[in-house]
Amino acid sequence: MNRKFPVLAALIVACLATAPLALAQNATPASSAMSQDGYPSAPRDPSLKPVFAEFGGKAGLVSLMNTFMDNLMADPVTHPFFANVDRDHIKMELVDQFCVILDGPCTYTGQSMTSVHKGMGVTRADFNALVVDLQKAMSAHHIPFRAQNKLLAKLAPMGHQIITKP
Ligand code: HEM
Repeated sequence: MNRKFPVLAALIVACLATAPLALAQNATPASSAMSQDGYPSAPRDPSLKPVFAEFGGKAGLVSLMNTFMDNLMADPVTHPFFANVDRDHIKMELVDQFCVILDGPCTYTGQSMTSVHKGMGVTRADFNALVVDLQKAMSAHHIPFRAQNKLLAKLAPMGHQIITKP
């Protein structure tokens, strides 16, 4: 059993619990980030440039997303959401999105998190399952745990835009 999972679970809960605070703190800068990156809740963070390197740059993200999507398809909780969509397209958008968050040389041109996930009926349990699938992929790719947490801390507040079902 991977001893890191309880730590991850605590992190996710902590991040989700503090998300309203994070969103409130980001309220003003987020609007300028939206025009820069076209993405409202997780703007480019220049302090994460070293983390981008720890992910293996853009090539590392491309490779990571293959494992991540494999995990999502193998997970009975997330499988139904991804079974009938263009998975290659989603992987490409995720690479660009994560690349932007980690201050890599990319532009995210996909939809906003609110509009793309609207009407999917994503629950908090679905969201947490996806995060665990991502954590497993990152561990499989030997991404340092501290770097993993830096990215997860950026993703956790997005739950408020993605989770639409109690
Ligand atoms: C922090 C968490 C998440 C992030 C960062 C994220 C990010 C994304 C991105 C970037 C796209 C592609 C947008 C585009 O095509 O323009 C997408 C699409 C999608 N996401 Fe998420 N997502 C998250 C959580 C979830 C969860 C929890 C589910 C369901 C369990 C989910 C299901 C989907 C599906 C099914 C699509 C494809 C929609 C379509 O092509 O019609 N996502 N997501």
